[in-house]
Amino acid sequence: MNRICVIGAGYVGLTTAACFAHLGNNVICSDVNEDRVRSINSGELPIVEEGLEDLVARYLASGDLVVTTDNIVAVSQADFVFLCLPTPEGPNGRADMTRVNEVASSIGPHLKVGAVVVNKSTVPIGSANVVRQALQRQDVQVVSNPEFLREGTAIHDFLNPDRVVIGADDEEAAIRLSSLYVKLGAPIVVTDAATAETIKYASNAFLATKLSFVNALATLCESVGADVRQVTLGMGYDPRVGSSFLKPGPGWGGSCFPKDVAALIGMAEDAGYDFALLKGVVAINDLQHRRIVEKVVRLVGGDINGKKVALWGLTFKANTDDLRESPALKIAELLAELGAQVAGYDPTVHNGLEGLTVVDDPYSACQDAVAVVVTTEWDEFRWIDFDKVGSVMQRRVVVDARNLLDASTVRKNGFTYEGIGIR
Ligand code: NAD
Ligand code: UGA
Repeated sequence: MNRICVIGAGYVGLTTAACFAHLGNNVICSDVNEDRVRSINSGELPIVEEGLEDLVARYLASGDLVVTTDNIVAVSQADFVFLCLPTPEGPNGRADMTRVNEVASSIGPHLKVGAVVVNKSTVPIGSANVVRQALQRQDVQVVSNPEFLREGTAIHDFLNPDRVVIGADDEEAAIRLSSLYVKLGAPIVVTDAATAETIKYASNAFLATKLSFVNALATLCESVGADVRQVTLGMGYDPRVGSSFLKPGPGWGGSCFPKDVAALIGMAEDAGYDFALLKGVVAINDLQHRRIVEKVVRLVGGDINGKKVALWGLTFKANTDDLRESPALKIAELLAELGAQVAGYDPTVHNGLEGLTVVDDPYSACQDAVAVVVTTEWDEFRWIDFDKVGSVMQRRVVVDARNLLDASTVRKNGFTYEGIGIR
């Protein structure tokens, strides 16, 4: 049985730990955040991730998973040490490697002879070498193994990957790490570390490009009277285009796309290449938040100063509690800059947020509002009673930034309805 240590018990780390336990390994996961570790061990997860709570409970109970605050104890018996640490956006868009470097330096002396340290965090190209130096261990190999899971479907994605990418400069380490994934039956791309690190950034940047393309296309559709949903349906049958990731929205967000696109632009700049395409992708995304606000302002008559606007959904997408770089929060900020009072409802958000009032149900958010914006595609918004919503609002205006609602039902209730790229 392999002994695996996972450092960092966030969306990636806890998923990795629980899934490796599920795959028959002995796993110890460590995190510096004591509250986080306490709540995991008491059976209440600090994050919302479908299926994770059950999996963690099952393997904590069987003893195949242990969660601790002590990185040093955690690494001491491990054959593999997975770094699942935050790499947030640092100065000038570059990835901040502080935590990865700190952890690598501190665990170095305590690693088992011949252990493999795995960078699962999204780290700048060249980081395998940086971590190797920080560890100060000649007998330990460092391998890049980027993660491609999505929040909300993390367990499913981990256990059913499209591919596994392993970047190692040492063949034996690559083979050892591959053996952990063989059961999953996915293609395993074995390459050098720098290439693996580049695959991760390239994948996220490409997906963000696809989304900015579709958001720009939606704007064009509005001007020429075409329906973006039909346009993308017609495009998507071509396997070279593909039908996924073509839904226009309020702009892409989340803990990774914004920072990873910025980091790739920065790395290209450092390498002497002006990645103008990606700069355009970011500019279109910023514009998309503004376009939603412009729709609200236009539909309520040109001025929202002193008026109330409701937001349905605050997380960066549905089925997660993650608010990091959420388009909804950017839109709230822009509305507030124009003098609006913003009230938001989200099924996973119950604490106050700066610049907006968080309420406990979608109807209260709309009380006395002049418009409501669907900012996150939570399924429950499909089943809202629009007659009831209309009765509490000052004006009946809906901006559906996710094209989630049935326009005719909403309009039947006397609302002015506008989506994205549709009539
Ligand atoms: P997260 O913020 O949810 O979790 C990181 C965890 O690391 C936190 O619980 C934090 O307390 C812990 N931590 C910080 N410093 C520590 C230390 N010194 N020792 C032990 N634990 C420490 O982050 P995440 O979303 O899981 O992302 C982690 C990495 O994976 C990032 O590089 C991210 O880009 C990448 N990634 C994230 C996703 C995703 O969907 N969230 C997907 C693929 C890759
Ligand atoms: C994304 C990638 O999909 C994962 O492969 C990657 O591992 C991860 O980033 C990461 O590196 O952290 P995630 O951030 O969980 O996963 O979210 P996505 O489902 O990709 O959505 C990202 C953003 O794009 C969201 O704001 C979402 O609402 C938006 N989106 C997505 C659209 O507007 N339209 C779509 O068709 C799809």
